[in-house]
Amino acid sequence: MSNIYLVTGGAGFIGSNFIIYMLNRYPNIKIINLDSLTYAGNLENLKLVQNFKNYKFIKADICDSVAVREVFKLYNIDYVVNFAAQSHVDRSIKDPLTFLNTNVKGTVNLLEAAKKQWEISDGVYRDGVKYLQVSTDEVYGSLGHCGYFSESTNLDPHSPYSASKACADFFVKAYFDTYKFPINITRCSNNYGPYQFPEKLIPLIINNAINLKCLPVYGDGKQVRDWLFVKDHCSAIDVVLKNAKIGEIYNIGGNNERQNIEIVKIIISYLNKNVNQNITENLIKHVKDRKGHDRRYAIDSSKIKKDLNWSPSVSFEQGIVGTIKWYIENKSWMDSVISKEYKDYYKNMYGSM
Ligand code: NAD
Ligand code: TYD
Repeated sequence: MSNIYLVTGGAGFIGSNFIIYMLNRYPNIKIINLDSLTYAGNLENLKLVQNFKNYKFIKADICDSVAVREVFKLYNIDYVVNFAAQSHVDRSIKDPLTFLNTNVKGTVNLLEAAKKQWEISDGVYRDGVKYLQVSTDEVYGSLGHCGYFSESTNLDPHSPYSASKACADFFVKAYFDTYKFPINITRCSNNYGPYQFPEKLIPLIINNAINLKCLPVYGDGKQVRDWLFVKDHCSAIDVVLKNAKIGEIYNIGGNNERQNIEIVKIIISYLNKNVNQNITENLIKHVKDRKGHDRRYAIDSSKIKKDLNWSPSVSFEQGIVGTIKWYIENKSWMDSVISKEYKDYYKNMYGSM
């Protein structure tokens, strides 16, 4: 029998990559993509699969309990993969309540709907069902020069975004502890790849550099992130859904720590050699630092490697070149997401475009 997946936030960056990855890998599954299409949701991301018979898009908000319940009644969902979220730290600093609403209330609403549908008797659920919460390494807070986040590191979020994700994680865990509800949580490091909204570092720098605009680097640019190619995040979620024991939490990382300034220089160097000699480090502009900016994230992903035999398949050197080329070859995609909303956002953050 083929499985039915409810993927929420599937019109965003990672969700759309996940849907494409899964439909290409498993032709017999069915995917329902539930997304409210915020500024970050774009159906263009799903062009490759939009006509597949086993793919269906539903425009709805995860906070809308009636709409979500209806989806569970209509489809015999086996897996929920919750990507839907407000995902940008800078926006969370300006508007924390939206993050509380989607990331926390929306998650609890999904948990409730799935529990209602799947519970056969008190604490007993239909066979083979699972709810997977897509979380982030940012819930662990910030590291100094050494050390790694493991699954047992205490949660210590600093931004309204990471606080809302940590709160959602606590609710997901509470459903397991209290109701024996079948969950897993994944906490991944920074993703990069096709279809990422250009408010995030890598697509913003690529797009600005191609257009010879200044490249904003927050503070000294020496903050460290652990970068993972998005397809490797998708493969990790796939193995957790299939093989992880209920209740387990898994860190996912690329073992690829880079300072932000290093990332910016790598992009400049590629574009300078391959696209336009006028793209140089002179475009870099150090701007005011982000409030409460986390200094370093680094993930210990030995648990998922050991338990589920997962490891990343794309090196950073391959992944970043493929990503830069993708944005160059898909200029029309970038044009489609540069809306009035984005222009206003950009102006507010960095001054005029
Ligand atoms: P994104 O901002 O690109 O996409 C979010 C999607 O969720 C959009 O399609 C948006 O329309 C949808 N959405 C937002 N609010 C909604 C609501 N109330 N109801 C229904 N849909 C809604 O985000 P992303 O980068 O793809 O991240 C996806 C998930 O992965 C998030 O939960 C994020 O916390 C997590 N994550 C992201 C990263 C990263 O580097 N981007 C790393 C680790 C974890
Ligand atoms: P971002 O892509 O927003 O991801 P996150 O904040 O979730 O890690 O930012 C990655 C890093 O890049 C972060 O340290 C902030 C920094 N940054 C800049 O220096 N300039 C920018 O214009 C942006 C968007 C981010």
